Amino acid sequence: METVLPPALEAKLAHTVAQLQRIAAEHAPAVFANSLGAEDMVLTDLIARHGIAIDIFSLDTGRLPAETYDLMQRTAEAYPAVPVKVYFPRAESVEAYVNVQGINAFYQSIEARKECCRIRKLEPLARALTGRQAWVTGLRREQSTTRTDMQEQEWDAGNGLQKFNPLLEWTEREVWDYIKAYAVPYNALHDRHYPSIGCAPCTRAIAVGEDVRAGRWWWENPENKECGLHAKVSMLPPR
Ligand code: ADX
Ligand code: SF4
Repeated sequence: METVLPPALEAKLAHTVAQLQRIAAEHAPAVFANSLGAEDMVLTDLIARHGIAIDIFSLDTGRLPAETYDLMQRTAEAYPAVPVKVYFPRAESVEAYVNVQGINAFYQSIEARKECCRIRKLEPLARALTGRQAWVTGLRREQSTTRTDMQEQEWDAGNGLQKFNPLLEWTEREVWDYIKAYAVPYNALHDRHYPSIGCAPCTRAIAVGEDVRAGRWWWENPENKECGLHAKVSMLPPR
């Protein structure tokens, strides 16, 4: 049966698929950073459905919610042709941080929080991106005040490769229209008022009317609410 999507979404979908195919053709080897959030499940489905040559990885911080691990397992079963490679933080770095600062030190200061993100996300990200020409994310413009100026293609100066955000102009509604239309697996927490999901201790449910990222690092100001994965990008790509 033909899947029917709203015409505006069909147009965005065609653009996104074409962009993914272009990334695979022109920026090989490319890799997709998959947090298993709703946007990233759309991209996983598109890469698998269209047989696009982009590898997939996920950063397992060791502090993810049980529901995310459950989705990781379901994703492996639903998309056997596109395995998600998992990167863990360096054990000795986590041990040093936890033994000196404490298991939940991220609540104590922004510096302690950023250090935890650096150890558990940024260092593994750098390893995941090594040897790649480009990486792909599920970032959307409307997600946050820190994301309004992003481009579909950027030069990631910090990591030294191209960065693509093929869902940049998708709305939250469009992400969910796609997920429902194609029966894409998704995190059970999304049905419990968690629109944006990161590590368990740093994510909580939002109230009606709250910003979609209000549940992330909720004790910090909005302008601090990035873990650094997307911090150093702004320049146009070199030609
Ligand atoms: S974060 O910077 O606040 O953590 P967010 O959860 O909105 O980011 O996700 C934005 C994009 O960053 C995702 O679409 C994904 O591409 C990437 N990303 C975030 N967390 C991870 C993760 N744990 N593993 C792989 N990619 C991730
Ligand atoms: Fe650590 Fe929280 Fe960052 Fe996860 S989101 S790496 S637990 S500070």
